[in-house]
Amino acid sequence: MTNYDLVIRGGTVGSATGSFRADVAVKDGKVAALGLGLAPGAREIDATGKLVLPGGIDSHAHVEQVSAGGLLNADTFESATTSAAFGGTTTLISFAAQHRGLDLRKVVDDYAALARRGALIDYAFHLIVANPDAKTITQDLPALIGEGHASIKVFMTYDLIKVDDEPLLDLLLTARQNRALVCVHAENHGMISWMGRKLVEKGYVAPKYHAISHPRGSEAEAFNRLITAAELLDQPIMIFHVSTAEGAQMIRAARGRGLKVFAETCPQYLFLTRHDLDKPGLEGAKWMCSPPPREQVDQEALWQALALGDIQTVSSDHAPYRFDETGKLSAGPNPTFKQIANGLPGLETRLPLLFDALVSKGRSEFAGRGLEAFVNLTATAPAEIYNLPGKGALLPGYDADIAIWDPDKAVTITDAAMHDRTGFTPFAGRSVTGWPEHVLVRGRDVIGDGTLLAAPSSGRWLARTGGNTATPTGRLVPDIDPQQNFGAALLD
Ligand code: URP
Ligand code: ZN
Ligand code: ZN
Repeated sequence: MTNYDLVIRGGTVGSATGSFRADVAVKDGKVAALGLGLAPGAREIDATGKLVLPGGIDSHAHVEQVSAGGLLNADTFESATTSAAFGGTTTLISFAAQHRGLDLRKVVDDYAALARRGALIDYAFHLIVANPDAKTITQDLPALIGEGHASIKVFMTYDLIKVDDEPLLDLLLTARQNRALVCVHAENHGMISWMGRKLVEKGYVAPKYHAISHPRGSEAEAFNRLITAAELLDQPIMIFHVSTAEGAQMIRAARGRGLKVFAETCPQYLFLTRHDLDKPGLEGAKWMCSPPPREQVDQEALWQALALGDIQTVSSDHAPYRFDETGKLSAGPNPTFKQIANGLPGLETRLPLLFDALVSKGRSEFAGRGLEAFVNLTATAPAEIYNLPGKGALLPGYDADIAIWDPDKAVTITDAAMHDRTGFTPFAGRSVTGWPEHVLVRGRDVIGDGTLLAAPSSGRWLARTGGNTATPTGRLVPDIDPQQNFGAALLD
């Protein structure tokens, strides 16, 4: 008698704590058993010589989204999730992006409809709030968080969507009261705006000047302001796309004080530098993102911060703009860097780049535990932080979201090989060893033998509560603690 729908036989299973030889049995979309000599499945996959890993969770990607500058990006949920799956990712957290004047409830309904129609891996949303008016704060956010959208994203920069200090505090308080995590793009807006104006006035308009227009201190300053605000209200935060050594150090200090400060970085800050923007003509626009790639020493500091646990996840921050009039060149053929959309594609390359660095090349910071670090940073930790039960590990009862990796496959990344709609990748020309060759979501084939096997709309929305991550510490600073502030109850 056949017990299982599928048995993946003969591989090495990887987890955040170790790897071991085991077959993996799947039934009804869940991992049913792990072990040697499991009973036959209705279907079998031979994974001899392969690594059987939890599918990746990409917790920061912009899909079918209107940018900070008002431009619709290049991907649909179908193309983005296809690209993600080809790179071994099985769960995506993208954004429902409110712009000024928009009703948050309608925004979420619209993105949900787009995702339902297109997504072929599982997905959730962070709620971008750019219009923190009374209705958004007191009605829509509490209701939407209660319905399963338990993370908010705010920008401290970008003219059209930034949230200043006072509304940021309003949002932190609402999040605290309703148990949501607040994710933040933290850069000092005034510094960036001033630098950009001065550079353009003086004729420094090429894409490479984008990098210095976001001075590295603009990150540390905003981190400090954000962490101080979060500490005032005892509200957990996630700092997105950390790019500098000083930023990483600030997060370490905050965590060392016991604050619930979580952080992510992205491949562009681990593998690129600002010198990648220094290309002839407008070519450097393909490497323009915010914050910009920094220096080699920052890369080293970020790897160290990942190894120490100061930064817990590596997401793509996929933000796809084509190198044509629909995207990077939407302001015409001769834009200044201030007129070029910020963002890089990265859904498909995130995991192979990290696998190559951590597993194939075995970066020394991880002391022989590169595979465990890879699984943790890209699947297990994001599942825990964003409270995605049943995701991020291969354990009995968990969703059978599985990427079977050929650890020896040598690939040179090219523009043409990518499955998103950007038309280029900033990692073109890099060679990596290791690539996912078979990808399953809830036991269903999504990628096999280089072919897409899933249909659009087969992905599921994942309702999330804030969970442990979004639970305040309960330690209040004197100014906010009614026992020390003359009885003023400000957190109710
Ligand atoms: O350059 C980037 N990262 N664009 C996407 C929007 C954001 O800042 O997250
Ligand atoms: Zn951002
Ligand atoms: Zn982003």
